[in-house]
Amino acid sequence: MPKPIIIDCDPGHDDAIALLLAFAKPELVKVLAVTVSAGNQTLEKTVLNALKVLSFAGIECEVAAGYDRPLMRELEIAPEVHGESGLDGPILPEPTFQASSKHGVQTIIDHVRASSEKVTLVPTGPLTNVAAALIGAPDIKENIDRIVLMGGAAREGNWTPAAEFNILVDPEAASVVFQSGVPITMVGLDVTHEAQVMASDVQLLLDSGKKVGVMVGELLEFFGEFHKTMGFAGMPLHDPLAMATVLDPTIVETKLLPVRIETQGQYTTGRTVVDFYGVTGEKPNVDVALRVDRERFVKMILEAMLSYE
Ligand code: RIB
Ligand code: CA
Repeated sequence: MPKPIIIDCDPGHDDAIALLLAFAKPELVKVLAVTVSAGNQTLEKTVLNALKVLSFAGIECEVAAGYDRPLMRELEIAPEVHGESGLDGPILPEPTFQASSKHGVQTIIDHVRASSEKVTLVPTGPLTNVAAALIGAPDIKENIDRIVLMGGAAREGNWTPAAEFNILVDPEAASVVFQSGVPITMVGLDVTHEAQVMASDVQLLLDSGKKVGVMVGELLEFFGEFHKTMGFAGMPLHDPLAMATVLDPTIVETKLLPVRIETQGQYTTGRTVVDFYGVTGEKPNVDVALRVDRERFVKMILEAMLSYE
């Protein structure tokens, strides 16, 4: 029986690939809705990007715009990584369908309440919408199986030395989610920086002669440019690894640890403070992904992307 999931994303090159991965595996997951956050780009652009990528792959589903800014801060975007459009690289046609008129937060609440099976939430951007849903409708916690999120880092950050981008954009939202009591799997930079596709993998896609495969190759070529400047050999597929963890939890090794979110540090705001040695005495609240089977992950990604026409 496929697992019911809701993807909350900020496309974003890697979000786009995470979406395509989910829809390539209908035998494993049923996507109840795609909700969209601001993050990699403004909300207007991330919503359009979600619609464009899904339309390009021939997918039509409920797409709902969430909040256009963090709970308590100004929005910080990442054009240096994802470009002015938020999905620079391939030229994508206009979408074939429109976003829902319902707010993304209400979409999350309604689908979780209505689901006959516990729902897995898969946030791959800032946690604003998920936090707002948990604040506005705490009853939904009972029908959420797990939150498998891309975000955070037990070790180095990427947007500041201390913080990973998704958490940093809305640390207050992240704190609400991490303290919610809902089971959480944190797929952070500790594993996503290992989960790189290489130029040879990209070339396979570009040479595939399949329109979605070629488009994903073009996304990765652009995504790789920024990561080259950071000294990466390849392209770390952050969000697709979170989705892969939903499809096959054994693709990462996790450890249940106490994790808190720093919301006030001059140099550390947005840090996921992972208490490896239990020195805080806090109750462990997050399954932190610490190792990844990269080969199996890359194989899953390539197979899924090449399964589209
Ligand atoms: O830090 C990586 C995360 O920030 C990914 O989700 C990427 O899409 C950006 O949102
Ligand atoms: Ca993202």
